[in-house]
Amino acid sequence: MSYTILATAPLGLEAVVAHEAKILGFSEYQVENGRVRITTDLEGIVKANLWLRTTDRILLLLGEFPAYTFDDLFEGTKALPWDEWLPEDGRFPVAGRSHKSQLSSVPACQSIVKKAIVDKLTDAYMTTRFPEDGATYPIEVTLHQDRAMITLDTSGAGLHKRGYRVAAGDAPIKETLAAALVQLSRWRGERVLVDPFCGSGTIAIEAAMYAANIAPGLHREFAAEHFDWVPKRLFREAREQATSAINTANARAILASDIDAGAVDLARLNAHRAGVEPMIEFSRQAVKDLRLEEDRGVLIGNPPYGERMGDAADVRRIYETLGQLRTDHPGWSFFLLSGQPLFERWFGKPADKRRKLYNGRIECQYYQYTR
Ligand SMILES: C[S@@+](CC[C@H](N)C(=O)[O-])C[C@H]1O[C@@H](n2cnc3c(N)ncnc32)[C@H](O)[C@@H]1O
Repeated sequence: MSYTILATAPLGLEAVVAHEAKILGFSEYQVENGRVRITTDLEGIVKANLWLRTTDRILLLLGEFPAYTFDDLFEGTKALPWDEWLPEDGRFPVAGRSHKSQLSSVPACQSIVKKAIVDKLTDAYMTTRFPEDGATYPIEVTLHQDRAMITLDTSGAGLHKRGYRVAAGDAPIKETLAAALVQLSRWRGERVLVDPFCGSGTIAIEAAMYAANIAPGLHREFAAEHFDWVPKRLFREAREQATSAINTANARAILASDIDAGAVDLARLNAHRAGVEPMIEFSRQAVKDLRLEEDRGVLIGNPPYGERMGDAADVRRIYETLGQLRTDHPGWSFFLLSGQPLFERWFGKPADKRRKLYNGRIECQYYQYTR
């Protein structure tokens, strides 16, 4: 049976998610705003959840139709084969979003969808009693330009929640964004990689997991594991295969440091939990003391942005240090995510390439200086 899934992507990262999907062997996919639409089978839903490093969630598309009125929304929803997806005891919370649509009241859309599903299940199961005390099937209705999309979330918690980060340090980036920064650097484990602002270690850990071929979702669970029409063995077998695919031969190719000793301890603990501690060399040091010993390498970092009053002078010095490092090491590529508009001026050189990305709500640029 064929399914359409939506691998949701943060703005600016759709092509990165699509590239990953292609490498994983998905052949039918389409890049859209904020997502990649993939046609696949049940095994593909499991694989996408377990293996895609840069997507936020895998949503199963249940239906898509024009909806200008509540009647359209009700009838379009009720027409879907809900009893194929939801068991009699299933919990089905309905979330909603609306953008540029006549049906702009999200709570009203959510309750119409809920009512339409209950109506359909009442006919199908011949009961009006739905205790909702079984597994959770998270439904979402999204209205965009008067088209409704009804989806079932197969991931559950966002996929950035890998399960290894015990506590986050100061301003950590999401695991999915860190994975995307590594993908965009084109680092493939062959050269040394340095993150001199490692904080809680996210970039180094994601790089190590990628180099060691550790599935990002190996140590977490997914909503779809509890769906009664997804055989339990699919997740079990996919995890077994993922476990045997791990290859940590790239040990010691990754260096992570930070000026803050507490951050370094935390990063080490997170790396241990992710199973990659032996692959990363941690140290406490300020970027001004950083020595790049190899002729070639990749530096990836998320330095402070200096958004607080009084921090600008320090941040300026950090960017000047980075610019000088780059001049002194022409064999290295530098990839720096910053929300500081004066980044290039202080770094002393315009980037070869820039990409607008959001770190949480902060608009940033990913400044790329290639060899
Ligand atoms: C935005 S945070 C990085 C967050 C990190 N990517 C993570 O996922 O947790 C910036 C980090 O730079 C460190 N830092 C600030 N000034 C520094 C300096 N001069 N040298 C090295 N690290 C510095 C801070 O301690 C902080 O951990």
